[in-house]
Amino acid sequence: MRTPIFAANWKLNHGPSDARAFLQRFLPQVPRFDDRTLAFFPPALTLPAVVEALRDRPEVLVGVQNVHSEPAGAYTGENAVAIARDAGARLVLVGHSERRHVFGESDEATGRKVRLALDAHLTPMLCVGETLAEREAGETESVVLRQLAAGLGAVTDAEVGQVLLAYEPVWAIGTGRTATPADASAIHTVLRTALRSRVGERGAGVPILYGGSVNRGNVQELLAAPEVDGVLVGGASLDADGWSAIVRTELSR
Ligand code: PGA
Repeated sequence: MRTPIFAANWKLNHGPSDARAFLQRFLPQVPRFDDRTLAFFPPALTLPAVVEALRDRPEVLVGVQNVHSEPAGAYTGENAVAIARDAGARLVLVGHSERRHVFGESDEATGRKVRLALDAHLTPMLCVGETLAEREAGETESVVLRQLAAGLGAVTDAEVGQVLLAYEPVWAIGTGRTATPADASAIHTVLRTALRSRVGERGAGVPILYGGSVNRGNVQELLAAPEVDGVLVGGASLDADGWSAIVRTELSR
């Protein structure tokens, strides 16, 4: 049984003061759930403020949105896995579509980042997803399977269960256009099948989140769809009241 995950990706929004105000408003509205996991991915400079504000809520996880593909060295401006971990991060997004498409991150770099994350005792959340052109060309499955294989390329079979996955179709991110629950389920099933064929039953334990224009109106039916084990939410996670309504969604399975 996979526990549903509600993850907020704040992207380049909310500095430390905004984040503190957000959590002051958000936390009293949200109980300590035992049937779901909450996570925040704030900007790296905001992470220590979020970690501090969650000191009494250790069940809420915090992560960084990216790390560099080398562990340390002369890489001005980058963030490293060990530094993220030291600052209180427990998760790291790897291969978010904005990293891939805006910053040119390669499949190979995602594989290195996943490996570094595991070595640093951070849980990687590997993001995969096709562009609109790839979808229209009928390439969705081959793209996500290629991204999955590369992202897990340096992970041993025994470690596959330590990774989280997020399927985020690029055409649905920040566009207001969401995949239907059936669309999401179909690709999640493709990913699940690939995991199982690589590591057998261990592949059944890997949570696969959906992301892309998730909001209050569609979250419940997305979470009810087979193989959808959580949501990774950008725009609709930025407002404390809106995000608290989403994380309190009644789960129908
Ligand atoms: P969105 O972003 O919810 O604003 O579409 C999701 C994401 O990029 O993780």
